[in-house]
Amino acid sequence: MNSLAGKRIVLGVSGGIAAYKAVEVCRRLMDAGAYVIPVLTKGATRFVGRATFDALASERTQMSLFDEDDPIPHTTLGQTADCVVVAPATARVIGAYAAGISSDLLTATLIATRAPVVVCPAMHTEMWEHPAVAGNIATLVERGVHIVGPESGRLAGGDEGAGRLSSPDDIVAGVTRVLGAGSGLRDMAGLSVVVTAGGTREPIDPVRYIGNHSSGKQGYAFAEEAAGRGAEVTIVSTVDRPGPSGATVVRVDTAEEMAAATMAAAADADVVVMAAAVADFRPTDPAGVKLKKRDGVPAIQLEPTPDILAALGASKPQGQVLIGFAAETCDVADNAAAKLNGKGADYIVANDVTAENAGFAHDTNEVLVLASDGRAHSIGLRSKRQVAQAVLDLVVADRDGRADVR
Ligand code: PMT
Repeated sequence: MNSLAGKRIVLGVSGGIAAYKAVEVCRRLMDAGAYVIPVLTKGATRFVGRATFDALASERTQMSLFDEDDPIPHTTLGQTADCVVVAPATARVIGAYAAGISSDLLTATLIATRAPVVVCPAMHTEMWEHPAVAGNIATLVERGVHIVGPESGRLAGGDEGAGRLSSPDDIVAGVTRVLGAGSGLRDMAGLSVVVTAGGTREPIDPVRYIGNHSSGKQGYAFAEEAAGRGAEVTIVSTVDRPGPSGATVVRVDTAEEMAAATMAAAADADVVVMAAAVADFRPTDPAGVKLKKRDGVPAIQLEPTPDILAALGASKPQGQVLIGFAAETCDVADNAAAKLNGKGADYIVANDVTAENAGFAHDTNEVLVLASDGRAHSIGLRSKRQVAQAVLDLVVADRDGRADVR
């Protein structure tokens, strides 16, 4: 319960309707043992009163850059914090932080701190999806800022969409994870996890193949995150890259090889993550020698490859959690839902691979996670490791609540 005992947390609250939920975040941080100092922007006080935070937090609420007791409150706050959490973070605060502009105590504290920062965005979908906001988030991610949320759901004014503040539980879990990094948050200890990574290559002849743009970064991020949390990891990979310390790497090229290695490794696994981009078709009869240009343009007959995810879904041992991916270029949610239903997965992690800074080869990703029980979680643009963290958080939380897990 006291996962944040002794941690000094500055809780920044900026001016959006979700500011009322920051009261609950404050309370949960206190319940977890943290010492909480609220910093409100002027806008925040249009939605929630400072007296509420004064009553709940460890110290009185601060709002001004000019304090009678402390001539430089932003540096004092920044230097003494173990973590700065901004919940909700509006587009304005995100933009100011990304640009290094300090116009109030919260933005000055963000720039003055070297402590880890957790930003929890909340805004309307149009604002969240605006290229300027997406770019600012990408900048913060590159600088190592941790982004929690937003979720999809009901927004102010009755609209639905991405932009809702993450739940207080998810925010506190995010802060705990950030502060636990390196000090052993091992909530996957004892679990066996199989991850596929990279794009398969289907030979046309000995020198040519049908492939795709997968770099393996998202799969390796899952492997690294799971290993960091104590899991025993096997990576079935088309990429020449070492896995995290202690992981088993099985090197494959084709969908057929990946199917054989994955089915064998998955038989005893607790969690399987199909992040690889597996070819759907392969040449029926690859040439034994290099095709010659002088012989004209070849007609290449294709046949389907084995559908590994569907086979895993059909033979899933009781209690195993099966995570599929969906790389989409249109109708992302509908296509992902069809894959979730058709392939027997517990989750589908859907990528719009046409989105800026997301999908193939980027260091960042932005996904929609659909669960077989109907829940949907939108995970906004962040590093691929942070996407893996957020998805594995869901898996761990769901396993904890399930009766059938091993
Ligand atoms: O590797 P990166 O550069 O980091 O890029 C990450 C990624 C874009 C590859 C990754 O996030 C991703 O979306 N992976 C899934 C790519 C894909 O093959 O999607 P799909 O919609 O075609 O397939 C749906 C699911 O079925 C996937 O889990 C896939 O692994 C699986 N599949 C597909 C075909 C097949 N024959 N067998 C399968 O198991």
